[in-house]
Amino acid sequence: MILNNQIFAAPMAGISDLPFRTVIRDFAPNVPVVTEMISCHSIVAGHKNCLRNFENYGAQGNVGTQIFGAVPDLMADAARILADAGASWIDINMGCPVPKVATRAGAGAYLMRDHALAGRIIGAVVRAVKIPVSVKTRLGWDDDNMDWADLVHVAADNGASWVTLHGRTRAAGYAGAAVHPKIENMPIPIIANGDIKSRTDVENMLAAGYSGAMIGRAMLGRPWIFGEILDDACAPTNIGRVASRHLDLMIEYYGARTAVPMFRKHLAWYSAGRPNSAEFRIKINGMMDADEIRNEILQFWGCA
Ligand SMILES: Cc1cc2nc3c(=O)[nH]c(=O)nc-3n(C[C@H](O)[C@H](O)[C@H](O)COP(=O)(O)O)c2cc1C
Repeated sequence: MILNNQIFAAPMAGISDLPFRTVIRDFAPNVPVVTEMISCHSIVAGHKNCLRNFENYGAQGNVGTQIFGAVPDLMADAARILADAGASWIDINMGCPVPKVATRAGAGAYLMRDHALAGRIIGAVVRAVKIPVSVKTRLGWDDDNMDWADLVHVAADNGASWVTLHGRTRAAGYAGAAVHPKIENMPIPIIANGDIKSRTDVENMLAAGYSGAMIGRAMLGRPWIFGEILDDACAPTNIGRVASRHLDLMIEYYGARTAVPMFRKHLAWYSAGRPNSAEFRIKINGMMDADEIRNEILQFWGCA
């Protein structure tokens, strides 16, 4: 049997916002979900859009918030703000390969190259909050530097509670199949991430020594996947109703002008692979009115 705390919804920039997390919750009320990564600078400076991202964590159940940055004191301050806002745990991004984060900012995946700084950041965040602190990282910088196990020890020595391991290097980005090394003699639990798409995949990770699995792209257009993994009976009877609820939640959160263009990518994922989905997407892409889009959704899935 797979338990709630063995499957996590991945942090995904531009995706894991409050509306998306709410749709996941409709099908799996207790699985841990993680916010999109937030810069420690933005949190501490109190940027308006950033602050909105972490309102009301307390009311959202088990929500981890992911932060990125390269300055230990600022990371600690950001973590304190998020803990006060009700986050269940703080996740530190040590895997993002985007140049803006990983090279210029010296954060994200860059920290795989500087374990001393990684340790100082983890230690500062752990000392700043009473909630658990985790680290999300990759196998290593590139094929010649697959030193994830060393970073796990650094994380453990500095008080992190677990590490999520994306089974690719920074150099691989998101390409190629993820590789999941067997987990043996690690000082803290390791959560597997990368290409996990089904209950069997989760079971295989548990058998390989992981304490759980985190699902990223397989939840796009399929936010009920967590419910299905916990309980087969959980699949929705009509995807159109899920999509239109998702649209409504986004409108409530962002307002229609912002929500409609942002929602199009979700609709492309919800409709992918269905008959006439290309025509459907073209039609929706030409629409700005939320009521019109909602009607099209309900018609496309035959629930008008
Ligand atoms: C569009 C997109 C946005 C992402 N944003 C984040 C992020 O904010 N923080 C993070 O740690 N990883 C981020 N990731 C990486 C995912 O969390 C995950 O590690 C990766 O997609 C591999 O898992 P998967 O094969 O299940 O998708 C992102 C990935 C994608 C494709």
